[in-house]
Amino acid sequence: MVMASILSRIVSIDLLPILLFFNIFVDGTKPYYHQKYFSKEKLTHLHFYFHDSMSPTNFTVVQVAAAPRRNGSTAMVNSITEFGSVMISDDPLTETPDPSSKVVGRAQGLSSSVSQSDTTILMAFNLVFTTGKFNGSTISILGRNSIYASKVREMPVVGGSGVFRFARGYVLMKTYALDVKNLRATVEYDVYVWHY
Ligand SMILES: *[C@@H]1O[C@H](CO)[C@@H](O)[C@H](O)[C@H]1NC(C)=O
Ligand SMILES: *[C@@H]1O[C@H](CO)[C@@H](O)[C@H](O)[C@H]1NC(C)=O
Ligand SMILES: *[C@@H]1O[C@H](CO)[C@@H](O)[C@H](O)[C@H]1NC(C)=O
Repeated sequence: MVMASILSRIVSIDLLPILLFFNIFVDGTKPYYHQKYFSKEKLTHLHFYFHDSMSPTNFTVVQVAAAPRRNGSTAMVNSITEFGSVMISDDPLTETPDPSSKVVGRAQGLSSSVSQSDTTILMAFNLVFTTGKFNGSTISILGRNSIYASKVREMPVVGGSGVFRFARGYVLMKTYALDVKNLRATVEYDVYVWHY
């Protein structure tokens, strides 16, 4: 992933002028692979709902690490607000807020509590789509999520694969429902992504 994105950057920066030169001056009338590849960047808006559950009987999130604490507690319940904890998620993404609506993909990633003063997490997530023309393609997100401080949190899209090669953009996340008792959350995602 890292190698691929480094490689794609080198290729796009170093070879783009050469490819353009070839297209314009040598082979301008005959479209070929590179020209097609670089010439049709488009903006796609994706909208879906993310379901997170820390319920002990039906969870999509697990805590994998916690900072040592004086009282030694590692209760899952508190971990998301606690500085130094690390969680791994595999959350379903659905078409509507209803968890039983059509699943369009999954959000798989790592979140870590990175603030000593509020509920702020670092999110490093891959969204993988499992239906339609995006099936098998992924979007990678890396950002800061201050869960309760703002109604809408914005996170950068740092890359993608498949349909979303060369992706860049942002995600707007809005908490749609929070069920504290059952440790479940539904978050509305709006993804705006440029890709070819
Ligand atoms: C677990 O949660 C998923 C959605 O998050 C739901 O579809 C499923 O029915 C739940 N299973 C049980 C046993 O509650
Ligand atoms: C354990 O420590 C946490 C964080 O300081 C605190 O919120 C919690 O109430 C403590 N639990 C007990 C049982 O003392
Ligand atoms: C998505 O792709 C996988 C792997 O190619 C395939 O098995 C699956 O049937 C596809 N799903 C849909 C809904 O097209």
